[in-house]
Amino acid sequence: MLKITPNKKNIGAEVVFDIKNLSKKDLLIIKKALSEYGMLYFKKQKLNSKLYIKFAKNFGKIAKYPRLKGLSKKYPQITVVQRKVTDKGPSFGEQFHTDSIYTKKPPRFTMLFSKLVPKKGKANTDFSSQYIAYKNLSKTMKKKLHKIKGIYSSEGPISLTTRERVKEKGRKIKELKSSHNIIKKINLKCAIYCSPGHLMSFTTNIKNQDRLKKFLFNHQIKKKFRFSLPWEKNQLAIWDNRSMLHQATPFKGNRIMHRITIQ
Ligand SMILES: [Fe+2]
Repeated sequence: MLKITPNKKNIGAEVVFDIKNLSKKDLLIIKKALSEYGMLYFKKQKLNSKLYIKFAKNFGKIAKYPRLKGLSKKYPQITVVQRKVTDKGPSFGEQFHTDSIYTKKPPRFTMLFSKLVPKKGKANTDFSSQYIAYKNLSKTMKKKLHKIKGIYSSEGPISLTTRERVKEKGRKIKELKSSHNIIKKINLKCAIYCSPGHLMSFTTNIKNQDRLKKFLFNHQIKKKFRFSLPWEKNQLAIWDNRSMLHQATPFKGNRIMHRITIQ
């Protein structure tokens, strides 16, 4: 049996279900819910890496993450997001963003599977629904935003946290840049598609770029659009990068997450 319980204001939903028993019909229900709520989480999943990858492939082609190494030779598709109790500085992804927006074809979905977590409530992932953020814009602002693109860089404001992790993995960093429309239409619904962690500027001739940036960032992450997801061990979450912003929250402790991004 599969049970879906939406969070308040439909910002994400919990799915009570054992992924190992996935049927075609279940998958359709899950995909529909993902499109509707933007983020789904499944508690108590006993998945090894092989089954995790198998589940991920149901949502599309697995993307290569250009900035971190894979889990192992056998499972290069999984990247490890790890924080040790001794780590200083911000966590990986500690500012609202959408993943890899600085690439030409950013991954549609991101999955995290928790292998080791600190105490409950200590290392949540925050989400902000960009469907709701769009809906709450004024008519004039909607019109304005439909016409412009954002230019994004892997060296944007959030890159400090990536640099820390990359240093550990010993890889060189090459700057990646791309531009995308600020408003995205997904299954006939509009969402603000702008990553505060990566935005450098806008493409069109806007007089006061900084003012628009400030307005957009403040608006995108208003409390009323947000849900904070607590983690427990063996919990899997998947979200739509096109309609959800996310951020890691600061914490001190040991945590290991296995991450897969889907094109
Ligand atoms: Fe992220």
